[in-house]
Amino acid sequence: MVENEKVNKILYGGDYNPEQWPEEIWEEDMRLFQLAHIDVVTLNVFSWASLQSDEDTYHFEKLDQIMDMARSHGLKVCLATSTAAHPAWMARKHPDILRTDFNGMKHKFGGRHNSCPNSPTYQKYARMLAEKLAVRYKDYDNIVAWHISNEFGGACYCENCERKFRQWLKERYGTIAEVNRVWDTAFWGHTFYDFDDIVTPNMLSEHFAANRTTFQGITLDYRRFNSESILNCYKLEYDAIHAVTPDIPITTNLMGPYQDLDYHMWADYMDFISWDNYPANDTPFEETAFKHDLMRGLKQGKPFALMEQTPSVTNWLPYNSLKRPGVMRLWSYQAIAHGSDTVMFFQMRRSIGACEKYHGAVIDHVGHEHTRVFREITALGSELDKIGSLTLGARTDAKAAIVFDWDNWWATDISAGPSVSLHYCDEILHYYKAFHSLNIPVDVIGVKDDLSRYSFVIAPLLYMVKSDYDEKIRTFVNNGGIFLTTFFSGYTDEHDLVTVGGYPGKLRDILGIWVEEEDALPEDGANSFTYKDTVYQAKLICDLLHTENAKALCHYEHDFYAGMPVLTRNAFGKGAAYYVATRSDAGFYQTLIGDICREAGIEPIIEKTGNVEVTMRRNANGTFLFFLNHDEDPHDICLHHAYRNILTDVSYKEGDMMPLAGRDVAILMEIPQ
Ligand code: GLA
Ligand code: ZN
Repeated sequence: MVENEKVNKILYGGDYNPEQWPEEIWEEDMRLFQLAHIDVVTLNVFSWASLQSDEDTYHFEKLDQIMDMARSHGLKVCLATSTAAHPAWMARKHPDILRTDFNGMKHKFGGRHNSCPNSPTYQKYARMLAEKLAVRYKDYDNIVAWHISNEFGGACYCENCERKFRQWLKERYGTIAEVNRVWDTAFWGHTFYDFDDIVTPNMLSEHFAANRTTFQGITLDYRRFNSESILNCYKLEYDAIHAVTPDIPITTNLMGPYQDLDYHMWADYMDFISWDNYPANDTPFEETAFKHDLMRGLKQGKPFALMEQTPSVTNWLPYNSLKRPGVMRLWSYQAIAHGSDTVMFFQMRRSIGACEKYHGAVIDHVGHEHTRVFREITALGSELDKIGSLTLGARTDAKAAIVFDWDNWWATDISAGPSVSLHYCDEILHYYKAFHSLNIPVDVIGVKDDLSRYSFVIAPLLYMVKSDYDEKIRTFVNNGGIFLTTFFSGYTDEHDLVTVGGYPGKLRDILGIWVEEEDALPEDGANSFTYKDTVYQAKLICDLLHTENAKALCHYEHDFYAGMPVLTRNAFGKGAAYYVATRSDAGFYQTLIGDICREAGIEPIIEKTGNVEVTMRRNANGTFLFFLNHDEDPHDICLHHAYRNILTDVSYKEGDMMPLAGRDVAILMEIPQ
């Protein structure tokens, strides 16, 4: 579907459930898809119940019909495996498939995304179904991707999982003595004598709230185990399909910064990344940008697929407001601007029953094409036809990176102290938004990624320094890179055991500081500091630190630690390492990041105009600048190069002003000079 030789344009379509409709409707759907320039449908997402009626009986006739219809109408297919909702008979006859939740409640049949990942029944029948689908449809050359299950997630705490967890711990740690060491069970007399003493950490055991645990070590390991357990289900299906159709790429739809699953681990087993983007009308557009960049970063910048978005409304927000005219188009291009090579919707036709009947769709309950939403979809479809293959495969060339790490997210989330208002994603976003507001492209990378292609790397809240990650940073800075980290960094190793000898632990020499204490401020508390003649707030956490080799660049102005450093810079090898000891406001981050980018030789794509987002992608066809006007008002943008707008064919010379209407988009292709 992405970087696939069967695909020569930005694929356009989405989740289609003809099995919910009588066949007369299908032909009408085909007519409407053609009108709207739809060329791909995701089929078979929730059909397990109709495909398999008992252990041995399968019924593929209806799916055959649907597959044939799609092929004969020239539609490409993203074929799902249907394993995201198990059939009722399976729950009745094999209750091991049902999850036990965080409160210890064993569930009954109902809902979806609800199978125990360690259920032998689930694993067996999910794998078999995936294999049967692959064998049956392998010769359909219009299949552009396999879509395993749907939005994998959640967690299970059943007895299957408990047994498997003990086994996982045995494999990871070998002996119970080592488990006791890494969880520091000498605390509160939790020493385990046998692996069988270990139970799942939930509200029946170590927890007193979802992210409040008395033992961080066990909870952290359970989160890892759960993410891996669910990944194993994906892998079972992946291997079964891949053995039959090795040339068809396989994916599953991710959900942006989704806490339960460590997507960096998942990405290794995905042929391309795809994800579902559901911003609310008031979601800041920089946050959506961040999510796209996080998804792009999972596979080192390879293009991804926008697998789902709503054409208009969702059904699950408290207030399901309409996407205003032009917004569906704007947000579709935002995905492309950040690296997507598809634009896809949930759903093609609005169902008549159950909880998604009022969720937006390409085809509304009225049944015809004369709707605002359909008109907007058709207009975008014809633009995507016009773009053709021009932007496919294009990469973003970022010289700056932000490190995002699920272990660090989990560990800071469950930490008892220093502050309940400390949220990993918030801290990442403060820095991300600074780059975004400066029109400086940034990659969002994991701890396994190579740092040498970047000049500037930021790792906010690098609380846990796993194995030799400090060595990677040391080498990066030694070789001339600029590194920045913040308060609550370098505290622990991968087991959440504190690195003793002074914070920030293994980062201490790189940063040239010693953090002696940290003060958590209440919501309305603030200190202040002055950077380049402007006074900024110090909030949330104020580290009390001493410089060792580093130079202090600004200082607290109040309280008993007035005069102690807030921002430090340590010249280290050929590079430098910055430390920001507190949380400040957007103005500070923007100024600081702008200054450090200049020091690192990183230039903005173009200067900022209003809320016009600008990104750049490059491929063998050329360099493309995407301008996305998130304002309702128009803007004029001064261009510093010659370009052609590939949507309108208007050409510009260097120095021209390009008018951009409210919520409009321009994709400018550089004209070589
Ligand atoms: C998710 C699911 C879809 C649908 C949409 C509704 O993304 O994958 O099946 O439920 O949400 O927004
Ligand atoms: Zn389970």
